[in-house]
Amino acid sequence: MFLPNWLIAYDGILHAEGIPLTRIAEDFGTPCYLYSSARIRENLKRFREAFAGIPVELHYAVKANPLGAILRLLAREGLGAEVVSGGELLRAMWAGFPPEKIIFTGVGKAVWELELALEKGIRAVVVESLEELRTIEGMARERGRSAPVALRLNPGLSPETHPHLATAREGTKFGLDPPGAERALESIRRSETLRLVGFHLHLGSQILDPEPYAAAWEYLLGMYRGAREAGLSPEFLDLGGGFGIPYAPEERRFPLGELAEVIRGRIPKGVTVMFEPGRSLVGDAGILLTRVLYIKEVHGKRYVVVDAGMNDLLRPALYGARHRIVPVVNRPGPEREADIVGPICENADVLVREAVVPPLEPGDILAVLDVGAYGSSMFSQYNSRPRPAEVLLHRGKAYPVRERETIEDLIRGEIIPEFLR
Ligand code: LLP
Repeated sequence: MFLPNWLIAYDGILHAEGIPLTRIAEDFGTPCYLYSSARIRENLKRFREAFAGIPVELHYAVKANPLGAILRLLAREGLGAEVVSGGELLRAMWAGFPPEKIIFTGVGKAVWELELALEKGIRAVVVESLEELRTIEGMARERGRSAPVALRLNPGLSPETHPHLATAREGTKFGLDPPGAERALESIRRSETLRLVGFHLHLGSQILDPEPYAAAWEYLLGMYRGAREAGLSPEFLDLGGGFGIPYAPEERRFPLGELAEVIRGRIPKGVTVMFEPGRSLVGDAGILLTRVLYIKEVHGKRYVVVDAGMNDLLRPALYGARHRIVPVVNRPGPEREADIVGPICENADVLVREAVVPPLEPGDILAVLDVGAYGSSMFSQYNSRPRPAEVLLHRGKAYPVRERETIEDLIRGEIIPEFLR
């Protein structure tokens, strides 16, 4: 089994930075998310090397993993942030991103969220509808200050990925279609308070082929030229995120170098290229440790019941995503097929369908790989399950970065009304 490079099997036990994962499971309990700061830095380095010599700014997509410690690490590395809610905006600032390095996307920004963004002075509100543009203009006028806006474009491009994950194609709610974008540009041109700072286009997620980005880049360049002719001066062209990672040995990593070649030498003077990577920075830097509770057969099919469920890791249930799973202590013996399932009362609660695993016993620890992105961030408390602990490795030491939730946390804020007391 090919492992992420920060995990090493030594004496039959999986280790990360010299620490046996059995010890992490003992010290912090299971289920538990474990991240490698070294791997995140390495992923970032790959971006920087691929785009060396090109005026590129990276804005980390906070939704991929909004853990404060990870945000702080990336803010310290000089990245900006892409946020999609007022909550993410406040979280990003709390963790250390300066507002002028934050851009705010999303189809449904509430009035309080737009007010917050303008008050904090963020780099750009990425506008997704004409209504939103009007709302921002009204706010800016009231404040007597200009508002920096970018337009999110939906040209109708279909990259090859899971249908849930393509966001710039027909039949999706995102952004402005070409006529919408024309009208938005016209409104901005006529407005005294709106300032067009850029164009934005996010193709989707887990894309492995650079081809659709070339088409997206063409489209952005066309929009840029149109805006210049209309007397506007956008400062950035944002190609969004979406760079895929290998979840299976036969998959490749998105070739950033090929994308760099598409845009190199074709960047209008004075313009910055932006990217909003999420998964490609943190995806393979996180694992989920879970303990085997029971092994059972039902109607001749074998199930390994573990203590992590679809509430802890939703991707398999939601997208049929396949994550690799490995035992932390390898017991010799013939491999067998089993569904690795969680404790939730749903058929969809399968962490790995038809996994082929070596002999297992109750109490064994398993590691689900590549869950650093959209793992913990899509957690829910379904079935009243407390949120797992999260741990960050740094230079051979394991740091707790989120406490496991308690039962008190689960009922915090709930009220039994007087008539039921
Ligand atoms: N920018 C925007 C506007 C986005 O909506 C997203 C992701 C990103 C950047 C970052 O995309 P990335 O580089 O991480 O692919 N929950 C799904 C992924 C949903 C992605 C949503 N938007 C999953 O588990 O695969």
